[in-house]
Parts: sequence; C-alpha cells; structure tokens
Amino acid sequence: MTSDLRDIGGLGYFLYRSSAASELSGGDTQDILRSARHRNQALGLTGCLHFEDGMFFQWLEGPKDGLLQVVDLILVDDRHQEITILDQGALDQRRFQDWRMRFSDRDRASLMDWFASSDKSTVRPKDYAGAVVAFLMSIAI
Ligand SMILES: Cc1cc2nc3c(=O)[nH]c(=O)nc-3n(C[C@H](O)[C@H](O)[C@H](O)COP(=O)(O)O)c2cc1C
Repeated sequence: MTSDLRDIGGLGYFLYRSSAASELSGGDTQDILRSARHRNQALGLTGCLHFEDGMFFQWLEGPKDGLLQVVDLILVDDRHQEITILDQGALDQRRFQDWRMRFSDRDRASLMDWFASSDKSTVRPKDYAGAVVAFLMSIAI
C-alpha cells in the first residue's frame, strides 16, 4: 500500500524509474554502485538497480531515516533525470536481504522482454509497479 515514507514506522521501500543522463558511461554506473553500496551498508539499506535501454529501475528498502536520506540524494543526482516514483511505503520484510545494491542490465535480464512475454503483456498501468518488483525479484536469486 502506497504511503508517504515520512509517515511510516519501521522498514520502508522506494521504487522508481528514471532516464540516465545521455553522457552516462559504464564507468559512471560503476561509480554509482560503489558509493551506493558503501552508503547502503552504513545505513542498513538493501535493494536492486536494473539498467536497460537508458533507463534505471531501482528498488531501495530499509529503515526509514536512512531510506529518506538516500532518496533525497538520489532525487537530486544529475546522472539521471525524469524520475518517476512508481511506489513507496511501509514494508514487513526485506525483498533483497543479501544485496547492498544488486545490479543487473539487459545482458543479464530484460524487463522489456519480460513485459512482452505472454502472460504479462496485459499488465495494466496500476499494476505496473508490482510487475517491476516481480521482475527485479525474479532476477535476484
Ligand atoms: C540511478 C542511481 C542510483 C543510486 N542509488 C543509490 C543508492 O542505492 N544508495 C546511495 O547511497 N546512493 C545512490 N545513488 C547515488 C546518490 O545519488 C549520491 O550521488 C551518492 O550517494 C553520493 O555519494 P558520495 O557522497 O559517495 O559522492 C544513486 C544514484 C543514481 C544515479
């Protein structure tokens, strides 16, 4: 259930989609991951970042205070733009317990192909966020 992260008590999650800055290189992605994992470790955050066709999809989860801190950093990071918040709210249990920030790209798995595959081709807009999470979890094993 979507709710403002400031209103939650324990664990929360934040899911968004963004467009990578046009000049972003593979090295930049490595830099993002290095500092992301370092800070996530310190703040007890876990999650998953998927990059495909110039778009980022990220699920971030953890204690509210650290989560809000990192979300604020991410929202003003000029290495991406057109950030669309897909979902956010309280979480009972982590989805990416063992990942300081898992990373995948098109070489590993394709969200677009996954969407296009038979039974998911009819995903309605309101189910989009749930479908993105299901995809991210399907590749995190
Ligand atoms: C697509 C994307 C995902 C990011 N994910 C995280 C993250 O999970 N955790 C984090 O601390 N910073 C993340 N960042 C980086 C922050 O926006 C910010 O630049 C960084 O935390 C600053 O780190 P520094 O103080 O080491 O320079 C992400 C940035 C981008 C562009």
